[in-house]
Amino acid sequence: MLRLFSLCLLLPAWVSAQATPQTIQLQSRVAPGATALKRRALSPANIPLADYFMGTDLQWFGNISVGTPPQTVSMVFDTGSATLEFASTLCGAPCSNQVQFDPTKSSTFVDGGHEQTLTFSTGAGVDPVVGDNWQLTLRNATETVSIGGLTVVGTEVFLVTNQTAPFAPDPFSGIQGLSPLVESFFGDLIHQGLPSVGHAEMTVGGIDHSKFNGPLTYASLPAPGVNDFWSLISPTLSVNGKTNSLLNTTTEIIFDSGTSNVLFPTDVTESIYALISPDILPHASEPGTYGIACDRIPKLPAVIAIQFTAQDGSPFELTIPSIELSTCQTLINAFDGLSLVGGSLLKHYYSVWDVGGQRIGFAAV
Ligand SMILES: *[C@@H]1O[C@H](CO)[C@@H](O)[C@H](O)[C@H]1NC(C)=O
Ligand SMILES: *[C@@H]1O[C@H](CO)[C@@H](O)[C@H](O)[C@H]1NC(C)=O
Ligand SMILES: *[C@@H]1O[C@H](CO)[C@@H](O)[C@H](O)[C@H]1NC(C)=O
Ligand SMILES: *[C@@H]1O[C@H](CO)[C@@H](O)[C@H](O)[C@H]1NC(C)=O
Repeated sequence: MLRLFSLCLLLPAWVSAQATPQTIQLQSRVAPGATALKRRALSPANIPLADYFMGTDLQWFGNISVGTPPQTVSMVFDTGSATLEFASTLCGAPCSNQVQFDPTKSSTFVDGGHEQTLTFSTGAGVDPVVGDNWQLTLRNATETVSIGGLTVVGTEVFLVTNQTAPFAPDPFSGIQGLSPLVESFFGDLIHQGLPSVGHAEMTVGGIDHSKFNGPLTYASLPAPGVNDFWSLISPTLSVNGKTNSLLNTTTEIIFDSGTSNVLFPTDVTESIYALISPDILPHASEPGTYGIACDRIPKLPAVIAIQFTAQDGSPFELTIPSIELSTCQTLINAFDGLSLVGGSLLKHYYSVWDVGGQRIGFAAV
């Protein structure tokens, strides 16, 4: 998920944690209820709606503990945002599908009394975001938060007090931002001395070498120390080994573990689809999405390779394999002004999000 309007709040916090790497178990999103699926008809063909999500694992979420005594809430670990927000009992009916944190049952909860809205420009599902339809109303607070045995006392959190309908089916309670800026929960951990490496699978403060083979390739963030987002510069992009003048262009690409799909500007999106099949067409009822009859998808060769430059100067490619098209969802959504890759690329790699080194590492799994 990518935050559209930035919050800039940073509070000092006191951290009590053993400074060793921690691993927490994540689960992937399961098929949500029918309400979420209705809107995503891709093509007028007779496609069973369940197919849009069947077999996908594009969102990763896991549990954290909030408050004293601890209440368990599940979070998406989102490299596309910076703050920690979760459903609360102040939300009520709009959050009825989520486990809600109850601040009245926590002795360490400190209400901040300040409400604001947070609008995301990409969402957790495979839907494109239209206008401001992904919006949370948040109330600020400080609380004790623990992730996998690491505890921060008095860290800044935001309670969700209302949310727009697209958030309603989410099987998780909130979003734990993991931006490369040293702030919020992970910033507090790093200030406290935890090694600065995090990961979406997720080991905090270390690298789990049992999870991948071969070398880790690191690429530097474009502007160390000031990046709001995890992004890398790509000199060129190819589809099935072919490129063209539009795709062979320097682009900054955001890596967002909280977004399922891939977003490119409309002209780039259409150029990629044109190299896959002329029959992939815009889907009029949902701007930004494209579709083709599902039964044709298994026959479409579609390896999208995005080139980057490693820290040693050599080029390397990250690829989104054909299989990502096979669930009939629109893999790439058109979104002008942004290039972003989400779960459908990241799930094929072991990734290292190194705040201290201002770099991202990738290894084949
Ligand atoms: C999160 O906690 C709930 C119970 O509070 C449990 O059912 C679930 O399995 C946990 N999820 C993970 C990924 O550990
Ligand atoms: C809540 O936000 C207000 C306004 O920005 C700020 O003055 C206050 O310190 C914050 N409180 C907490 C507990 O975060
Ligand atoms: C919650 O948000 C919805 C829009 O999604 C709005 O219609 C409703 O009035 C809001 N409720 C409160 C209590 O602000
Ligand atoms: C891509 O652009 C670079 C210059 O930026 C050029 O050297 C290269 O030949 C181009 N590749 C293709 C396949 O068009």
